[in-house]
Order: sequence, then C-alpha cells, then structure tokens
Amino acid sequence: MAKMLERPVPEGSRSVSWPWYHHVLTDELTSEARSVLVKYSQIPPRNVESHIYSIVSLPSLSLSLKADGIPPRQRDKAWGIFPWPCVGEFWFLAFGLSLHPLYQPLVLPRLHAGATLLDLGSCLGQDVRKCIYDGAPPTNLYASDLFSEYEELSYELWRDKATFPQGHFMADDILAPNEAFTRGTLMTQLGPGQCDIISITMFLHLFNYANQLKAATRILRLLAHKPGSLVLGSQAGSTTPGEVPLKPPFAELHEEGKRRTVYRHNPESFEGLWKEAGRAAGVPLKVSAVFHAPDDFGKVKAADEGFDVAAKERKYFTGAETRRLYFSVMRS
Ligand SMILES: C[S@@+](CC[C@H](N)C(=O)[O-])C[C@H]1O[C@@H](n2cnc3c(N)ncnc32)[C@H](O)[C@@H]1O
Repeated sequence: MAKMLERPVPEGSRSVSWPWYHHVLTDELTSEARSVLVKYSQIPPRNVESHIYSIVSLPSLSLSLKADGIPPRQRDKAWGIFPWPCVGEFWFLAFGLSLHPLYQPLVLPRLHAGATLLDLGSCLGQDVRKCIYDGAPPTNLYASDLFSEYEELSYELWRDKATFPQGHFMADDILAPNEAFTRGTLMTQLGPGQCDIISITMFLHLFNYANQLKAATRILRLLAHKPGSLVLGSQAGSTTPGEVPLKPPFAELHEEGKRRTVYRHNPESFEGLWKEAGRAAGVPLKVSAVFHAPDDFGKVKAADEGFDVAAKERKYFTGAETRRLYFSVMRS
C-alpha cells in the first residue's frame, strides 16, 4: 500500500476524546491568525471564533461521526476528513511556514519577485493564504494534499473561492505507484521542474524512511531545475534518529502486513536522507537542518478540562528526545 492512509480511518480515531482534539480555542487564535481571518477572509471580528468552530459538517461527515458513535459537532468537517492532530490542535492557525526562519528573509522576497511555491500536504491551505496575506501574488501559489475534500473546505474556511486561483489546489498522493504519480495532477497540471519553492511543513514525519525517500525524490522532480531552488519546512524530530512505531489509534494501520512506523530524524540523519534522494534524482543539494529548543509541541492544553491530562501525556507523547526540526534543502 503506497498511500499514507486507506480509508475508512482507524476505528475510534475520530473520537473527540483524543488528547490532540482541543475542545476550545485558547492561545492558538493568535492576533496574526485573527487578523488573517478578519482582513483576508473578511470575517466580522465578533464572528471569528464561531467561524473557526463552525466549519459546517457535511451530511457525509455527520454520518461517519455517527458511525463512530459521536454526535455531529461544530468544526468537525475537517476532523471528519481525517483526524490529524494539526486539525484537532488548531495548528492550522499557526501558519507553520511563516514560522520558518527563512520565511521572512528569503521566501517572501522571492514570492514578491515572482517565484512559484507549492505547499505539499497543505491540509486547509493555510500557508498559501498567509503568503497572499503577506503580499505574495496568488497566481504563483499552489497547494496539494492527499484529500481532495480540503479544497472546498479551505474555500469555506478562508472564504476566497472567488479569488483563489482555480486549479491551484491539486489532490494527489506523493506516494502513489509510479504510473499513477506520473499521470497525477502534480506531474500533469503543475509539471516536473516547475516549482521554485516547495514547502513541506509537518509532512515527511508522517512516513517511514523508505516512503520519506520516495517522497523526497519526487519532490526533487517537481523542483525547478536551477541553483537556489528551495525545499523547506519543519517536522517532529528526535535526538535519537530511527523508526518509531505508531501509537494508538493509528497503530492499527498496517502496511503490507507490517506494523507501521514513522522515521524521526536528527539533523544528521535528515541530511543523509536528502543526500540520498539527491543522488537518486541526480540533483546537487545543500542541506541545512537544526533542532529548535524543546517547546510545548504536542502538549495537552490545560484548557481541555475534563481530561486526565497527566495520564494522556504519559501514554501518548514522546518525552525528552522530541524536538522540532527546521530545515532547508537548496539546489546548488
Ligand atoms: C500533519 S498535516 C500538516 C498540514 C500542514 N502542512 C501544516 O503544517 O499544518 C499533513 C498533511 O499531509 C497530507 N498527506 C498525508 N499523506 C499524504 C500523501 N501521501 N500525499 C499528499 N499529502 C499527504 C495530509 O492529508 C495532511 O493534510
């Protein structure tokens, strides 16, 4: 199975009892996120929170939630597509690309000068919207995700169906079998060698090493064939690199009969991955990867009252080895 996921999603994973489902917005709604929703999406200030909560449920979602024994709730259309922690934790309001150290000094100036950017694993399309909010021309921005449903949902969230360029969201599977990938939207609608910048924020860490290598090699095929072309992002890392078994409920996903793992990198192993991908694709690369100091990444917010926070932290979150890895991979 090449895909990251096969639907239906693992039983019980849409439960709103998982610690990465935050029931209420707290500090995730930063003044920046509020400003994007008010100024870009034209949401009246008093309605911002309710707008985020009430991304209206589709009938199909209501049915799937009911099947999981959960009454349809507000905000849960995105949770129903797939219960990603980035949805449950409102991480999409953090605009992860904009937190990258190269966003202000390199990415934005290049976009203003006409560079093209692809956000791969775009989820709700928040990072390309932030680029537009920061003055980038929309015509040079593309978003792609495994789940086609995110296209409509992102229009609904950002209220820009009339202005976001048509055809700039492409549903595709970066791990599709070769023939399907060659015929897919990324290779046919966008095309090989067309992107000056590819953002892969919180993306590669979803996969085991073999699939990370496959994805990285394909990302290099999409990248513009000129020095300075850039892949950048951030992801969960570990001071001890290696394959880590997925935890419940995602542990129940199997790949070719084997227990699923994801690979966690330190800066050295991450550089090794991209050097290997560069050799496979025939692309010379300069890789930079750094750990940022431990933060509250993955911690349960105290505002989620009603949860046994301490027990959940013990059970679900990795400990002292977890870091966030920021990286750039530049074609030399
Ligand atoms: C953890 S989320 C990160 C979303 C966003 N980049 C962010 O920083 O909030 C990972 C995204 O990758 C997408 N994804 C997972 N497997 C994929 C695949 N094989 N091909 C393309 N996208 C995939 C998921 O649907 C999800 O939206």
